[in-house]
Amino acid sequence: MDAVAAVTKLGNTLLLDRVTGEPLFPFRLKRAPISKLHGERTAPYQPDLQWPQPFARQRFGIHQITNLSNEAHESVLQQLRNDETGIHSNMGWFEPFEAGMPTALFGIHGGAEWTGASFDPKTGFLYVTSNELPWFPTVSRLPLTIDDHLVPPSEGRKIYETHCMACHGHSREGSGVHPPLILIGARKTEPEIRNLLTSGRNLMPAAEGLDEAMTDALVDYLLTADNQAKSHPRAQAKSPSYTYNGYPKLLDNEGFPGCKPPWGTLNCIDLNSGILRWQVPLGEHEVLTERGIPITGTENFGGSMTTAGGLVFAAGTRDLKIRAFDSATGEERWSHQLPFGGYAPPASYRADGKQYILIPSTGGGKLGGEQGDAYVAFTLP
Ligand code: HEC
Repeated sequence: MDAVAAVTKLGNTLLLDRVTGEPLFPFRLKRAPISKLHGERTAPYQPDLQWPQPFARQRFGIHQITNLSNEAHESVLQQLRNDETGIHSNMGWFEPFEAGMPTALFGIHGGAEWTGASFDPKTGFLYVTSNELPWFPTVSRLPLTIDDHLVPPSEGRKIYETHCMACHGHSREGSGVHPPLILIGARKTEPEIRNLLTSGRNLMPAAEGLDEAMTDALVDYLLTADNQAKSHPRAQAKSPSYTYNGYPKLLDNEGFPGCKPPWGTLNCIDLNSGILRWQVPLGEHEVLTERGIPITGTENFGGSMTTAGGLVFAAGTRDLKIRAFDSATGEERWSHQLPFGGYAPPASYRADGKQYILIPSTGGGKLGGEQGDAYVAFTLP
């Protein structure tokens, strides 16, 4: 069957009919959580791909926390706890960002990377290098310019000040885990707001001591305050805008990834059946091997190259090695220390009757480390 395959940072292989673009393995769409950030719209459904089998963990959770040592485990757990509230960070399937709350997730450096995958047409096997390490970004609200001092005082405003302001802020700007209520009418219907006031939710307590008239006045205030502020020349209601703290990794006390190994892998996917035939760690942290820890794999940016002779070559690891694996079993057959990181797929070519393997070895890039400028070629004696 004429097909096109693409490997993703989430660890999926998209396998499509090359002519029509139809997926070759059916998949279902699953309801995804809705964004909690004002102005951000997330897709209500996301594809839930089961086939071909994913080649990386896709969802970070407490049970994924590193088990390298008690200290490592505790240090990651500490970061996932929120000191103020004791709440764990957000994590989950397509979990959207939430202001003031870190999200622990896989996938920012893959799964797969730009290097893609290599393919053996004889067997129908696809070989893909992959990363598995958690990230820990936080989105925060930027300060708002609205000032409710300038909104004419009302009955509802007074109730807000006694019952709600301590958490949601003087000008409804929110703070920390308490969301802003500015433009709440755009995010919640009136019945939803009334329900929330009766039931409470998570850290939001049910409102107590409000009779019907007071509730009406309060809801009226929440739904009209923005317009009143807008109509006031000095108080422009602005929708919240956001910033984020970059792409921090969730690391343990020694700087190793905060999830259980493997952290870098080479994978063999049978495109005919969709089955992940084998997965082996790619790369080694020698200090950990010396402690008796099985090879963990390392973060890698190299990609793979497959030969007709039954070998898969891959480099790109933190230990700066190029390796050859048995393409049927994943067993390591050979390795060689490169002068610098080899952050591209190796190439193979023939010259004067001899077959060569060639890899650029330049270091630097996303894994840092020493930079150089070499091409290294190998051939059999
Ligand atoms: C103890 C702090 C606290 C108090 C007091 C409080 N809230 Fe909240 N409120 C929260 C938190 C935390 C949330 C987020 C709840 C969640 O996790 O979904 C929230 C959520 C809300 C939301 C939903 C916001 C959104 O964008 O989804 C509304 C509306 C709201 N509160 C209104 C009120 C009103 C009105 C009062 C006063 C009667 C009030 N709150 C009092 C903490 C508080």
